[in-house]
Formats: sequence, structure tokens, C-alpha cells
Amino acid sequence: MNSTETFAGTFYGIGVGPGDPQLLTVKAIDALKKIDVLIAPKTEKKSDSVALSIAEPYLKSSVEIIFRTFPMVKDFAASTEVFETYRDEILQLLRGGRNVGFATLGDPMFYSTYIYIFRLLEPCGVKIVTIPGVPAFLAIAAQIGRPLAFGNDILAIIPATAELDAIKNSLDRADAAVLMKVYKNFPEIVDALQTRGLIDEAVLVSRCGLDDEKILTDIAAHKNDALNYLSTILTRHNHHD
Ligand SMILES: C[S@@+](CC[C@H](N)C(=O)[O-])C[C@H]1O[C@@H](n2cnc3c(N)ncnc32)[C@H](O)[C@@H]1O
Repeated sequence: MNSTETFAGTFYGIGVGPGDPQLLTVKAIDALKKIDVLIAPKTEKKSDSVALSIAEPYLKSSVEIIFRTFPMVKDFAASTEVFETYRDEILQLLRGGRNVGFATLGDPMFYSTYIYIFRLLEPCGVKIVTIPGVPAFLAIAAQIGRPLAFGNDILAIIPATAELDAIKNSLDRADAAVLMKVYKNFPEIVDALQTRGLIDEAVLVSRCGLDDEKILTDIAAHKNDALNYLSTILTRHNHHD
């Protein structure tokens, strides 16, 4: 890739917040109004269409929406080929002077497919504007009236897709925890919280800010329920005030 090449268009990574249409920033709205093309990721998770539906009211009527299927990335090195194809497609659009946007649920730099595209575009000399968004866990804390961390609290942010031992270690060491992507191994997560006395303080929120939002406080009773992909747990040790 020739990094001295210049591109007429700008690439925007736009955080659209977790679901509530009022949680978009002014900057995100401005960027959505500017873009000529929106890359809309489609995965088996279906959450990406949520990002698109939040963004849609602000898009120009002439905007071109390109749906692309992004693999769930466990090992980026093993999945680069498909991402490189998308990178090349974006570069071509930018060369043609079009402003290209990539809308992300929550924040783009936080556990997002955007990061993989960003990392591939960055060395190409593209002008990239990344616009932060309200991440789901912060919207959830506000929604349920639960201060997330205070004083000297150490907060762990744990993707439940990580190794179970690493999850348990983090739960033991932190004062408070956010567990994301809990849909896959929910029963194991419930067990880990129960063993550590963290279940009573745990709250699970699914689809925060969306019409079908759910808040569960009796998590153990729902241990065998199928969870929506957009589900997050907040919990804390109650060993201090
Ligand atoms: C790939 S991560 C994306 C995180 C996103 N970039 C953010 O800033 O929140 C997906 C996880 O985020 C959490 N999540 C995202 N939106 C959510 C929502 N509206 N309600 C509850 N959890 C949500 C869930 O834990 C979900 O499994």
C-alpha cells in the first residue's frame, strides 16, 4: 500500500451510542449528515442493524448504504483477508472523493468491528475521524441508577467470551465489574458470580435504551434463559461503603 497517496474523501468511525436515539452526540449527527456512503456491518449478531437504525434519520437521502458481512474476529491475523477486501473497497470510495462512514453501536474504539477496519486504514494515509459514543455499560449504569465505580474502586471490564479462569481472576481482583458479551456462556458466568458472592449485586440489562429493553435483578433464576446478544451485567463486591 502506497502511504504517500492522498485521498479526497474522509473516513468517519461514528459511535451512535447503545440504542437510545437521544444518546448520539452532536458530533456524530454532524458526521452522519456529511457522509456519502455508509458501510453497514452485518453479522450473525444482528446488533449492527441497530446501529444503522439509530443512524438512519440523520443520513442524506442520497447516501449509499453498503451492507458487508464481517466475521466475528477471534484471531485477527487469521481473518485479515476479508477485512483487507473491505479496506480496499473503502480506499476506492475515498479516492473517488466520497466521505465514507462506519456506524458503531456504543463507542467505536471499544470492542468494536470498527477497530479492525481502523487498524487497516490507518497506515494508508487516509484521513480518519473517529467520533466517540456512549458505551453501553455507562448508559446501563445511568439507566438503573447504579454508580459504577467510586473512590479508589478498581473496575474490571470483562468480555465473557474470554477464558473462564481469566474472568474469575478479574472478578476476584476488582471491586466492581462489567461483564459484556454474556450471551454465550451465561450459566458459567452465573456460577462464577454465585461462588464469589457477586450475584446479589448483579444486574443484567439487555438491549438498553431500545424499545424491548429488559432489566433482570434475579439473575440466578434466569440462568438457563437464552440471552439477547446485547446483554451486559454490572456487579460489585460489597466490601466497602
Ligand atoms: C461487540 S461489543 C460492542 C460494545 C460497544 N462498542 C459499546 O461501546 O458498548 C457488544 C457487547 O456490548 C454490550 N452492549 C452493546 N449495546 C448494548 C445495549 N444496548 N444493551 C446492553 N448491552 C449492550 C453487550 O455486552 C454486547 O454483547
